[in-house]
Amino acid sequence: MSVYEGYLQFAVQVARAAGEVIRQGAQRAIDVRSKGLRNLLTDVDLEAERTIVQAIREQHPDHDVLTEETPPEQRASRYCWVIDPLDGTGNFTRRYPCFSTSVALTYDDEPIAGTVYDPMRDHLFAATLGGGAALNGRALSVSQYDRLLDLLIGMDWSRAPKAREEIVRIIAQLTPHCGSMRTCGSAALGVCYVGAGWWDAYWHLGLEPWDAAAGALIVREAGGQVTDFSGKRWRPEWGPCLASNGKLHGELCAQVGQGGGEA
Ligand code: IPD
Ligand code: CA
Ligand code: CA
Repeated sequence: MSVYEGYLQFAVQVARAAGEVIRQGAQRAIDVRSKGLRNLLTDVDLEAERTIVQAIREQHPDHDVLTEETPPEQRASRYCWVIDPLDGTGNFTRRYPCFSTSVALTYDDEPIAGTVYDPMRDHLFAATLGGGAALNGRALSVSQYDRLLDLLIGMDWSRAPKAREEIVRIIAQLTPHCGSMRTCGSAALGVCYVGAGWWDAYWHLGLEPWDAAAGALIVREAGGQVTDFSGKRWRPEWGPCLASNGKLHGELCAQVGQGGGEA
């Protein structure tokens, strides 16, 4: 058993608690406001965040917390919980059932335990560093497809118009050659779908740390690769992200990497 298993169990517990908040929120009227262009915030995002952060403060008072809806605090610990309380808020406001909670623990900014929970499907993706990845307790491994023509590739949209122009250019370049392309509107889930072997790759021009800190660990522990578009190991920070089964990673980097500008 991994030395990080205790942290993972705690992450799972808080992600499930947030999932319950989100499931209940999906049944009632919600407050929706704008944080910026194509960027929504609901009272459910905030309630899910409070649920997770309160549990961390009680259980791990010495650890840092980086979470989407609260300004970052001064770093004081080598451990940091990186949290997206509700990933896929746009979908959530429409009751389109593709959204999730992402909880990762990093040590010196490397994810060591992480989980992504889809409360509507009860899909719990989880991994520890060196301990493998699992979906609802069943071990995961990435797909084995190695021909571009067979690849099912996930992606998600950025908000800024210039980034969207770049995305359209990448799609136009890739789609004639790959199997097909998908988007689900929750980057955290999209990355995990590579770990599950459902998608063979996933790319995004500008992920935030909380979007993929847990998912990146899940993909790597399932045997895949997660990098920026130049092939450099992705760490939980803002920027381009490419997760894949590793079979055509270099070629995909070349295809998506020629832009990667503002997101
Ligand atoms: C967003 C979703 C979306 C992605 C955006 C993210 P949020 O997260 O993951 O799929 O394209 O870049 O910001 O705002 O719903 O937590
Ligand atoms: Ca969010
Ligand atoms: Ca997010």
